[in-house]
Amino acid sequence: MQDSKAWSGRFSEPVSELVKKYTASVGFDYRLAEFDIEGSLAHAAMLHRAGVLTADDLAAIRGGMEAIREDIRAGRFEWSLDLEDVHMNIERRLTEKIGDAGKRLHTGRSRNDQVATDIRLWLRHTVDSIVGLLAELQRSLVDLAEPNAATVMPGFTHLQVAQPVTFGHHLLAYVEMLARDAERMGDCRRRINQLPLGAAALAGTTYPIDRAYTAQLLGFDGVCQNSLDAVSDRDFAIEFSAAASLVMVHLSRLSEELVLWMSPRVGFIDIADRFCTGSSIMPQKKNPDVPELVRGKSGRVIGHLMGLLTLMKSQPLAYNKDNQEDKEPLFDTADTLIDTLRIYADMMRGITVRADAMRGAVLQGFATATDLADYLVKKGLPFRDSHEVVALAVRHAEGQGVDLSDLTLGTLQGFCPLIGGDVYTVLTPEGSLAQRDHVGGTAPAQVRTQIARHRARLG
Ligand code: ARG
Repeated sequence: MQDSKAWSGRFSEPVSELVKKYTASVGFDYRLAEFDIEGSLAHAAMLHRAGVLTADDLAAIRGGMEAIREDIRAGRFEWSLDLEDVHMNIERRLTEKIGDAGKRLHTGRSRNDQVATDIRLWLRHTVDSIVGLLAELQRSLVDLAEPNAATVMPGFTHLQVAQPVTFGHHLLAYVEMLARDAERMGDCRRRINQLPLGAAALAGTTYPIDRAYTAQLLGFDGVCQNSLDAVSDRDFAIEFSAAASLVMVHLSRLSEELVLWMSPRVGFIDIADRFCTGSSIMPQKKNPDVPELVRGKSGRVIGHLMGLLTLMKSQPLAYNKDNQEDKEPLFDTADTLIDTLRIYADMMRGITVRADAMRGAVLQGFATATDLADYLVKKGLPFRDSHEVVALAVRHAEGQGVDLSDLTLGTLQGFCPLIGGDVYTVLTPEGSLAQRDHVGGTAPAQVRTQIARHRARLG
């Protein structure tokens, strides 16, 4: 080849500098290098087994790739914009090192099936890290839930005090979300883990390839069954991005709660100083920067999902250069999610619970009003009537500036003669909690059962 481009024989003039920069992807796809080498080694081994590459060629390719891998790891590899992308950079370097054997590596494949393979390998690896980090975050939430299995806090609807729950129960709601997230990642991994290689440019290849063998070498569960789909499918990237967005949405909800709980007006928790910053002008401030940023960064992950969906929308078969645009959103999604999960697990271990403030808020919100209504139903009053009785009692207590449990038995009986001395066992937050003793309920005994289940599941 006289020119540096892999396809240059066809062209009478080089691309302009601006076009070169515009079309090159090596500035970001160099991150796929290790996976590109892994894919090439498996492809070469398959070609040798199929009788397309000699043993000498295979040995040379292996030796050359090993040296290139070391150069890349040591930061010695020089990436060239002229060579456009990670694939051509590595292949050219291989040829410089080992000669003709390097030129034979690309037999029976195209960058189209090569890049699709590389992204799948990279994403599979990334998903595995994320699943591990999701488990770690769940463990840190369970660890915080355990000592708080009976810690009373107000449960909210419409951000108004609704009914007492335990702080442990509240935290376990997020464990449920994250467990589903991990499941979704695992489900998405099954569709990532199919081999595109062998599709070549779009139509397959004339060489006697053994795709199942390549798949086995690379740890894929199977091979993509249609060559056109194999090179153009990015569903798996979109699925991952959607699963990642949902994780970020869940963490944005928890973040919003942490910010609220840490506000001095609420004061339910304190977050360790290492996750907060001060103000350059207001000396009293301690701001929950990390949860705020998580809330903010959820926006960019969701944005990448929209970007990827739009990237694929209306794209005709098969490969189009558009697809090169899948990488930056994917990389940024993975980086953002991984950093967020790491920092979050650590942050949950840095939370101090102010149980007195939580309990105080329960007592100010008539949180046991539903319990009184349920109590009257159990004494024989129809629910709608008891709802009305309790509404009147709440109105009275509010006027007096006291909680329902502060009203005397005589006063309570004035609203309904069915009320007896045993009413106080349901009017206290603890009594209210203890009665919700069924699967999924907030009774401390149930919360402890759930904690044990999660621990067994998370290992
Ligand atoms: N850099 C390209 C990408 O990321 C590799 C595939 C290019 N194939 C092609 N025929 N131009 O999608």
